[in-house]
Amino acid sequence: MTDPVRILGVCGSLRAGSYNLMALKAAMELAPEGVEMRLAPSIGDIPLFNEDVEREGMPAPVKSFREALGWAEAVLFVSPEYNHSIPGVLKNAIDWASRGADQPFADKAAAVMGASPGGMGSSRMQLHLRHVGVMLDLHFVNKPEVMIGSAPSKFADGRLTDEPTRVFVGKLVTALRDLAVRLR
Ligand SMILES: Cc1cc2nc3c(=O)[nH]c(=O)nc-3n(C[C@H](O)[C@H](O)[C@H](O)COP(=O)(O)O)c2cc1C
Repeated sequence: MTDPVRILGVCGSLRAGSYNLMALKAAMELAPEGVEMRLAPSIGDIPLFNEDVEREGMPAPVKSFREALGWAEAVLFVSPEYNHSIPGVLKNAIDWASRGADQPFADKAAAVMGASPGGMGSSRMQLHLRHVGVMLDLHFVNKPEVMIGSAPSKFADGRLTDEPTRVFVGKLVTALRDLAVRLR
């Protein structure tokens, strides 16, 4: 039997009632067999990137995030878009993690999805994250694209309730598992 694919879920929103965090939790529920999924430690504790701070050593929240990435062989990003792009808090965490000789993203499988109250469902953030992934040497799943628009109608009582969306989310985690296995 092959080892389960270790997937780290990273949420780009710090909001307590975040739709994206609910979507990430749904992905964890819907993960197929052969997957072990964990939630990344909060990226909200990571200070703003500053090379002067970096020179004094990686701050503890950065170390925790990098350790979690080190455990993972695949990463699932679940994030809103802010002003048509990657939320600063997520980009900041990625920038910190990308420092140092040991590259915690390099050659790993990745997938992205996101939710928004509007119709676009984070699509522009997703494209920008894929672009950043080129520099990080991440290998993104191409399809399915999971863009959860009109979020207030798809979540209730703290969870993703829309059945067709749940099916897509499960398919995305399955595609991520399969890509990670191919990369082994
Ligand atoms: C600074 C800021 C910029 C935003 N820009 C966009 C945007 O460009 N496109 C969009 O669909 N929603 C935008 N939104 C709305 C977010 O999609 C919405 O707040 C969403 O619920 C955030 O995700 P969360 O529920 O996981 O916290 C923006 C929200 C904020 C706070």
